[in-house]
Amino acid sequence: MIPRNNGFDLTVIRQAVYTSHTLKTDAVINPLDKLPPILKKNLDRNLCVCNEVPKMDIINAIVNGATTVAEIKKQTYATMGSGCCTQQVERLIECLCAPEREE
Ligand code: FES
Repeated sequence: MIPRNNGFDLTVIRQAVYTSHTLKTDAVINPLDKLPPILKKNLDRNLCVCNEVPKMDIINAIVNGATTVAEIKKQTYATMGSGCCTQQVERLIECLCAPEREE
């Protein structure tokens, strides 16, 4: 006789569905999703041309905990030239450190 559940352990299946649902709601958000489209461009290009620091290095520093221009400066050397990239660094901090929106 073939069991009604085709031999699958429904407890395991329910747990897997529950787990995948849990993972979906607890999923790690891609930090780049917080950036407006214009800031997602040229990630490998130097945002700080004075010290040749790619935008992605600055984003990584922010994602790893830097929340001020001083911390970015210490970790990446960006903004240490003429300071002409400071506003762009501030904008990245503003976007990436913004609180998550509830949906
Ligand atoms: S471009 Fe970063 S300090 Fe000049």
